[in-house]
Amino acid sequence: MSTDLFDLSGKIALISGAGSRGGQGAAQARLFAEHGARVVIGDLPSSQGREVAAEIGDAAMFVELDVTDEASWAAAVAATKARWGAPSILSNTAGVWLMKGILETSAAEYQKVIAVNQIGVYLGMAAVLPDMKAAGSGAIVNISSVSGIKGGGQPFAYAASKWAVLGMTHQAAHDLAKFGIRINAICPGVVDTPMIEGGKPVLEHLESMIPTGRAGQPSEIASIALFLVSEASSYVSGTQIVADASLTA
Ligand SMILES: NC(=O)c1ccc[n+]([C@@H]2O[C@H](COP(=O)([O-])OP(=O)(O)OC[C@H]3O[C@@H](n4cnc5c(N)ncnc54)[C@H](O)[C@@H]3O)[C@@H](O)[C@H]2O)c1
Repeated sequence: MSTDLFDLSGKIALISGAGSRGGQGAAQARLFAEHGARVVIGDLPSSQGREVAAEIGDAAMFVELDVTDEASWAAAVAATKARWGAPSILSNTAGVWLMKGILETSAAEYQKVIAVNQIGVYLGMAAVLPDMKAAGSGAIVNISSVSGIKGGGQPFAYAASKWAVLGMTHQAAHDLAKFGIRINAICPGVVDTPMIEGGKPVLEHLESMIPTGRAGQPSEIASIALFLVSEASSYVSGTQIVADASLTA
């Protein structure tokens, strides 16, 4: 038996939103695979998910996944089971950004953000939990945001969705603890991914507000996800790790 607490050999990780080459989900997929897991890249057909999986190699597969759709989750889990077995790890990383306050946000826009960022996380957990419960083990990481812990100055629908992710994480962790399932969240600050719209000028503006003067890299958030899905965090559940270089401190 391995003494490496970060060893994921034998684990099967389903990662939503991992089809963005420069994104956090792809960084998790690469890192989890390096640590021995087989990884399922779940993302929209229009994403770079096939390329991300091909770059990782035999330990990765791409599945088309729309996190807002219950049937799509069922198909992704079925495809995972057919290839390798039931997911023992789920990372709910898919997300969309909307830089608008309440006055500018239409009902349709609000519902879109909630559908992906909130309902997508619920549906993901619901899709994998029966098998995890049967197995008596499992680890789930949900990507929230500092927008989920900070009141003022955040985009309205996005912040609402990310607060909800923490609520679901805490409640589900409490409910599922007795089945050996751990559920935690990460609240990243500014991370240099394609989600930062507007390119370098916007990134530099955001970086000017961070005490360290730089955005985080996707790999720096992925290493926290690795901790949370590995044995290294065996007594950690129902909480969140804020990774923002003291932005909200
Ligand atoms: N980048 C940041 O500064 C930052 C900060 C805090 C939290 N986050 C969160 O981190 C997570 C990852 O974002 P990222 O920074 O890697 O951005 P990204 O844009 O690179 O990746 C997001 C991925 O989600 C996918 N996605 C969107 N809608 C989907 C749907 N309906 N079904 C399946 N996949 C869908 C996209 O195709 C994309 O591959 C998101 O939840 C985001 O809200 C990002």
